[in-house]
Amino acid sequence: MTKRVAVFISGSGSNMQKLLESMKDDHPARACVVLSNDPRAGGLDIAEAAGVPTEVVRHEPFKGDRVAFEHALTGALAHHAPDLICLAGFMRRLTAGFVDPWRGRMLNIHPSLLPKYRGLNTHRRALEAGDAVHGCTVHEVTAALDDGPILGQAEVHVLPDDTEATLAARVLEQEHLLYPAVLARFAGGDRRPVMLR
Ligand code: GRF
Repeated sequence: MTKRVAVFISGSGSNMQKLLESMKDDHPARACVVLSNDPRAGGLDIAEAAGVPTEVVRHEPFKGDRVAFEHALTGALAHHAPDLICLAGFMRRLTAGFVDPWRGRMLNIHPSLLPKYRGLNTHRRALEAGDAVHGCTVHEVTAALDDGPILGQAEVHVLPDDTEATLAARVLEQEHLLYPAVLARFAGGDRRPVMLR
């Protein structure tokens, strides 16, 4: 049966756009909703233009109360009945209370070759470390930040004159290939990692 996918965003939503574009024809999943914690997220317009329902759950009113924010997320998802959640540049940390019931059904994309560089500023940290190879990872989400079984990675060679911006741009190109490839495989019931080199 076709899987229903909720995509969570906070910003421009370029990964979300690639996921939406990929879910057609004999793909085993379809997007049922795009949810943002930020009403200004550019990705909301992209989702609406693609005919995908959107939800906004602002986090500010719940400042200091992640559990209440997560209850609001659950409420907003309810009538869309997703089978899977794809975090795609969703910039809020989720607690075990939300994550655990979705264990094995929630994916995230992270701009580093995990387990290297969990958290923020991954491109800067790779450059500062003098890494020759950087990249991105899609993984199952667990309550630990940027952790969980790895479902795919794409490598990007670091060039001598790379800046944070040039490196980020090349990693993002790979994210756009990797995330749809992983989702197609995962939604079809195959958890073997997708490795792009
Ligand atoms: C991506 O680099 C993603 O890996 C990171 O945030 C960025 C989101 O970009 N977590 P976009 O909103 O998909 O364009």
